[in-house]
Amino acid sequence: MAAIVLFVFVLLATAAHATQSSAPPPSTTHIKLYAHEVVSGRHPTAVTVARAPTTKASKTFFGEVFVMDDILTTAADDTGKPVGRAQGTYCSASRDSFTLLMDVTFVFTAGEFNGSSLGIVGRNDVRADVRELPVVGGTGVFRWARGYAQLSTSKFDLKSGDSTIEYNIFVRH
Ligand SMILES: *[C@@H]1O[C@H](CO)[C@@H](O)[C@H](O)[C@H]1NC(C)=O
Repeated sequence: MAAIVLFVFVLLATAAHATQSSAPPPSTTHIKLYAHEVVSGRHPTAVTVARAPTTKASKTFFGEVFVMDDILTTAADDTGKPVGRAQGTYCSASRDSFTLLMDVTFVFTAGEFNGSSLGIVGRNDVRADVRELPVVGGTGVFRWARGYAQLSTSKFDLKSGDSTIEYNIFVRH
């Protein structure tokens, strides 16, 4: 009796293992997008909403908080198609370097991922050529998403402060 029970148990365990290993690996999707941030003019897409009394004296804007709603397109220049928005907040979170803590939702309103969203949260050392932030989740086709985003500055206008940031997102979902 015990031998039969053991045999059945081993059989079940083997079947479970076989099912697991034959399951397809989670798909990894690479998404390349450009966030267009306008801080100048009458219709900025990123605004300062708060700062500490000591922020003005800080070289790194330590304690300044921004809200963003940047347009996301498929190219750095005017040929890009708008596919959604990058909505979130970021703040200057380092006293020693201009480093941000960002939390942003990529909301897709057109294209392949229309109706879905991705959440990106992490530290952004803006001086680095490539900044890597965790992708912590998503909705729609991105439910259970995990991954990372690599950010690089595609354009920066010293005069206006406007910028275009390239996002290379690698996400499993
Ligand atoms: C995106 O999806 C919404 C809701 O399904 C739909 O109304 C809209 O037309 C779609 N937009 C594009 C550009 O496909």
